[in-house]
Amino acid sequence: MKKILDLTAEQVRAAFESCGYAADYGKVTLSNRPDLCEYQCNGAMAAAKAYHKKPIDIAGDVAAALKRQAEETAGAVPMFSSVEAVMPGFLNLKLSGDYLAAYLDGMRSEAKLGVEECGSGETIIVDYGGANVAKPLHVGHLRTAIIGECIKRMGNYLGYHMVGDVHLGDWGLQMGLIIEELRDRKPELPYFDENFTGEYPQEAPFTISELEEIYPAASARSKEDENFRARAQEATFRLQSGYAPFRAIWRHIMNVSLADLKKNYGSLNVTFDLWKGESDAQPYIPGLIEDLQKKGLAYESEGALVVDIARPDDPKELPPCIIRKSDGAALYATSDLGTIIERERDYAPAEYIYITDKRQELHFIQVFRVAKKAGYVKPETKMTHMMCGTMNGKDGKPFKTRAGGVMRLENLIREIDEAVYDRIMENRTMSEEEAREASRTIGLAALKYGDLSNQVSKDYVFDVDRFTSFEGNTGPYILYTIVRIKSILAKYEEALAAAGKAEGASAASAEGRMRPAQSEEEKTLMRKLSAYNDVVETAFAEKAPHRLCQFIYELSDAFGSFYNTTMILKEEDPEKKAGYIRLIRLVKDVLESCIGLLGFDAPDRM
Ligand code: ARG
Repeated sequence: MKKILDLTAEQVRAAFESCGYAADYGKVTLSNRPDLCEYQCNGAMAAAKAYHKKPIDIAGDVAAALKRQAEETAGAVPMFSSVEAVMPGFLNLKLSGDYLAAYLDGMRSEAKLGVEECGSGETIIVDYGGANVAKPLHVGHLRTAIIGECIKRMGNYLGYHMVGDVHLGDWGLQMGLIIEELRDRKPELPYFDENFTGEYPQEAPFTISELEEIYPAASARSKEDENFRARAQEATFRLQSGYAPFRAIWRHIMNVSLADLKKNYGSLNVTFDLWKGESDAQPYIPGLIEDLQKKGLAYESEGALVVDIARPDDPKELPPCIIRKSDGAALYATSDLGTIIERERDYAPAEYIYITDKRQELHFIQVFRVAKKAGYVKPETKMTHMMCGTMNGKDGKPFKTRAGGVMRLENLIREIDEAVYDRIMENRTMSEEEAREASRTIGLAALKYGDLSNQVSKDYVFDVDRFTSFEGNTGPYILYTIVRIKSILAKYEEALAAAGKAEGASAASAEGRMRPAQSEEEKTLMRKLSAYNDVVETAFAEKAPHRLCQFIYELSDAFGSFYNTTMILKEEDPEKKAGYIRLIRLVKDVLESCIGLLGFDAPDRM
């Protein structure tokens, strides 16, 4: 469906034109004086200069033209209930109740509630999550996972072909550290017997909990024991050069770790289309280096191979991108370039979106520039790095455990769930089991909404008390609104069933038409609803999930005011009552579809 703002602008543009002014002045925005009007057009002010007239005279002309247009199309539902030219030259507009009701009926009749698919199947790669294999997920990985999942869902909803890739860190020093630690602990394993010629065991020589203990132990050891560190580097290098026994251990590490990662991401409601990683980029690297040399882009500098990326208009001078270190090891940037070559071959996407911590800013500037300079990515392909701010503790520093360590994701989730559970149990309306189940659903909403409601690039403070509150701009508040509507709808159906009119009447409430608003609160709620398609499109275009959060917060508030001032179930006129039910059902549908895009669900009760 066309957006309300566009539909109103169409009329206003036509009015400008019919008065002999350029149609472009007919831009309509939401009013910034909601006490005076709902929408406004400031075009008369700009037109005044061009036509050497007083703005108020132009606004007056246009207002008269709009009224004339309405009369000429008598019979059709008029768009505006009020059109006013006010000093110094504003055009103040109010939508007619009938028009708004008809617009919402249009939304109700569409699967996506009026959102149009602007994507036309274009492929977009979203690179998010970015977990490092064999290292526990920590809170630093939280934002990219949550935000990436939302961006992917919004894109798919809008008709893009979103390909989400976790892009694992699976090719680094952690592998060598684990291999050498394992050698010291279990030297009898065949992987360490140079003369072994048989088949390596299918079974991994460690469980996930052992692996989780091995890596930190090895990592700590490497910081004290230089010799051990050198061994780990050597093992990493041999693994990367294809040494079969180490490849076999690597595969075990991958299998054990992946199962665990999938579980962890699953508990965040985060899924990926591709589980690729840095290791998948390796086959492309020799050809990549050769090509960059052949094109004259890569050159030797202090033993390393580098590509210049600086541009004269950069505010500060940017260092070249290192493609190969002096010891021959490939680097993070090299593997990202290799990955781009593979992605071009497999998907030739129209856009790349990478979501990471903001500390990787320079890395992505370098990678994007090399990719474009070398022609691996077409000039028109968009490459975006969404940089996430940090999640801080109440002390304003990156979030830590009480003991000061890095907080693991699963512990963080547990902490939130517990806090929600305590809140639910305060009222004790649920069995313990039901409360546990609900607190998982609500906890996830608290966590995700707490994150997504902030601008991506901004730091925010992780505050369990605030995030889990059932009031204010929080996930639980949104869920509470949905649950409340569900309960009203259930009671309505029950009452009808009791009166023996279940089928007929419930169909009537679904099929009948929306009624024009009877109160300010109802109209505000209806107008909020009508902005849904606009909000989803803007939130995706600006890659700004917080806009979607802001919208559902305002929509929930508007519902709250409507609910507080309207007797819905006690309404005696059955037609009126059915109208209210249609309206709040649409509110529920829009809220549910928004939280689906944000990546969480509502419980049945709370
Ligand atoms: N594994 C990296 C990290 O933990 C993030 C990977 C981001 N994606 C990429 N294509 N570089 O920092």
